Order: sequence, then structure tokens, then C-alpha cells
Amino acid sequence: MRRHISNKEVVLAVTGSIAAYKACEIASRLIELNAKVTPVLTRSACELVQPATFEAITGRRAITNLFGAFASAEIEHIAVATRAHLFLVAPATANILAKAANGIADDWLSTALLATRAPILFAPAMNSNMFAHPATQANIETLLGRGCHFIEPESGRLACGTVGQGRMADPMSIIEAALPLISGDSSLAGKKVLITSGGTREPLDPVRYIGNRSSGKMGRALAIEALARGAQVTVVTGPSDVALPYGAETIRVETAMQMAAETLPRAQDANIVICAAAVADYRPEQTYEHKRKRAGQSLTLALVENPDILAQIGAAKRTGQILVGFAAETEELVANACVKLKKKNLDLIVANQVGVPESGFGVDTLNAAILDRDGQTTELPLIAKDELAQRLFDRMALLMAQ
Ligand code: PMT
Repeated sequence: MRRHISNKEVVLAVTGSIAAYKACEIASRLIELNAKVTPVLTRSACELVQPATFEAITGRRAITNLFGAFASAEIEHIAVATRAHLFLVAPATANILAKAANGIADDWLSTALLATRAPILFAPAMNSNMFAHPATQANIETLLGRGCHFIEPESGRLACGTVGQGRMADPMSIIEAALPLISGDSSLAGKKVLITSGGTREPLDPVRYIGNRSSGKMGRALAIEALARGAQVTVVTGPSDVALPYGAETIRVETAMQMAAETLPRAQDANIVICAAAVADYRPEQTYEHKRKRAGQSLTLALVENPDILAQIGAAKRTGQILVGFAAETEELVANACVKLKKKNLDLIVANQVGVPESGFGVDTLNAAILDRDGQTTELPLIAKDELAQRLFDRMALLMAQ
């Protein structure tokens, strides 16, 4: 994620909602990712949070006033609006949405929103009735129609005590939604990327299943990278606690059969298919309706083979379609992955070492090698899953250019 945000100019505009305090975390995460952040606080926001907090986090003066200090000869709101790669309005009140939709320019932020040609992302936060009000919804429609972007507020208990939709999306989801807008990378614009992620569960009875240790972290890193390059992303995921990025279509399944049913039809028109899921090769022949009781003797389970989703996609691969697999191996890493690459008709496979600390299931890093269809093997040092995702998409770009 860092590469796409590094040194990009982000205007973080904070308006007068209780959620304003969460903007501190957004600022802090953007700085961690090496973005250059200009904080802007409306007059109401200053009643709720201190400009000094944002100045300490971002290392830049917080803009609070259209006619504030003129540090240089430049007209600040025009200059900042012009060099911005993104205007992120978080939280966005009903008031700023109304002003932006109607072209009202009566303070720094509303004026700069008219002046900028950078993408604008609003993260609304307000009382649920205010959000649902036809006036607010009409303003959102107007802004969407003009190409502005929104990250929907969540439902839940609001600061005012009511329960409903209006709570600002969480800071990490906001950053993930901002990433493709900031990156300006449109190398995969118009391309469909389909990803399988997480592990499947094969039920024995209503309480037990055969499963594996996949967390879905690798699938998430791949989805974030594809979105940052402008792709249309669909993730078919097994049960997982890892949040998938905002902007990816997410299809949740439990079993290998369900994953096959959701993945195979979608693979037909995908430009890139990446199978990162740990799919159970076998499922119990019989699933019991009620919890199986112990019977004082050993129990033998009959298992039947699941469909190999990746092999089926490989067998039907279209010219120009890119197909990527993963191989989780405990031994003979490269040799075993090479067999899978050929057998499943893949363009690339990531061989990753499992069964050792810091690599494979559940952690953020992998010991891996990338093998390609031309017989090239690139051994990687211990690498973060998000960096591996970047490298993988770089390799895919080379293959697509061939
Ligand atoms: O989710 P994390 O905790 O981040 O962990 C990531 C990971 C280790 C699960 C992931 O990076 C990984 O290695 N996934 C593949 C694990 C695996 O089961 O490999 P395999 O060798 O069994 O399968 C080879 C390939 O065929 C994989 O791309 C797999 O998705 C695919 N496959 C396998 C069986 C099957 N029935 N259908 C499939 O599509």
C-alpha cells in the first residue's frame, strides 16, 4: 500500500461531526504510509478537535480559515487544491455535502472543493435520520453523478444514542477506499480480477468441520493491490475474520463446493484469476444432521474428493487470461509448486513455505518463491504479504505485455 501513497498530497478535511476525533487516526495512518497530509478543519470541527493535534501528526499547519495566515504569495486554497492528489473529507457532515452539491463556497473547504480537480472522497457521519433524509440523499446522488466518491457510513449505535446508519466508516476502511484514488495507477482499469481467499470448512455435523489455518490475509493483500491498480475486484472467501477492502465485491462461502459454484462461472470473464484460498481437497462423504455422539469406539470417516477449482479454470483458460495459483508446501517447495504450475496450466505460482514460524498461514509474512510459465524461478527473502502482492502484480503486468 505504501508504494501507492508515498509522497502523494492528501488534503484531509475534517468537518463538524463527533467522528472528527477519528480523523486523527486517519491522518496518522496516512503519515505512516508516507503521504503528505494537509489538514483542513472547518470552524465546527475546531469546536470538537484541536488543529494542534493534526499539526503534530502531519507536521503541517492546519488550515482553519480562508483568510488565515498567508505564509507565501500563493493563494492557498487554490494552490493546495491544485497540487492535491486526493481530497478526503472525513468525517463529512450533511452540511458539507449540501454545500458541495450546490456549489456553495463560503469557507476554505467548500471553496477548495470547487477549485480542485483531484478526486474527492466523502466519508459521511451524521445522525441516521439526517443521513436518510431525502435532501441528504439527493445531495449524495448529485455528488456521485459528478464523479465524487463515497464510503458509506456504518450502522450501529450513534453518538446521539439512536441506532441506525450514520456512523463514519472505520479509519482503515477509509484509507483502503482512498488508496485507488490516490495512487493514480490505472494499469488495470477495466480489468476484472477474481481472487479466492481464506480456507474452506467441510462440515461433519452441525458443530464440527474439517478446516485449515488460512486467515485470508494473503487474499486481502491481493485485493488491495488490485484495487490500487484500478481493477474491478471480486473476492470469493471462506470464513475469515480479516476484513476485505472496501471496493472489492465480497462473496462469502463455507465449503469447497460452494467456493467452486461461486468461482467457476465468474472465472469465465475474469482477466486475472488468483487462487490464494486453501481449499479442502476432501470433504466428509456424509454430513450428519445432528451432533455425533461418542460411541466408545474408534470412528473412521469416509472422505470424498472436492473439485479442484484452479485446475478446472486452468483447463478452460482463454487466450490472454492470466491464472495464478499458490502452493503451500512443507517440503520440496519449488519442485512441488512446479508440478502444480504445469498440471493446472498456470501462468504464475507462488510457492510458499508453511509449517515454519513467520511464514504461511495466519501471519503477515511469507518465505516464498515465484515460478512462471517460462520456467523462471524468483526466490524471495521473508517478505510481507502486501509486498508479495505488489511483486505478483508487477510480474502479471509483464506477462500481459508479452
Ligand atoms: O490466508 P493466509 O493465512 O494469509 O495464508 C495464505 C495461504 C498460505 C493460505 C496462501 O497463500 C496459500 O498458500 N494458498 C494455497 C494453499 C493451498 O492449499 O495450496 P494447495 O497446494 O493445496 O493448492 C494449490 C492451488 O490450487 C492453490 O492455488 C489452491 O487455491 C488451488 N486449489 C486447491 C485445491 C482445490 N480443491 N481447489 C483449488 O483451487
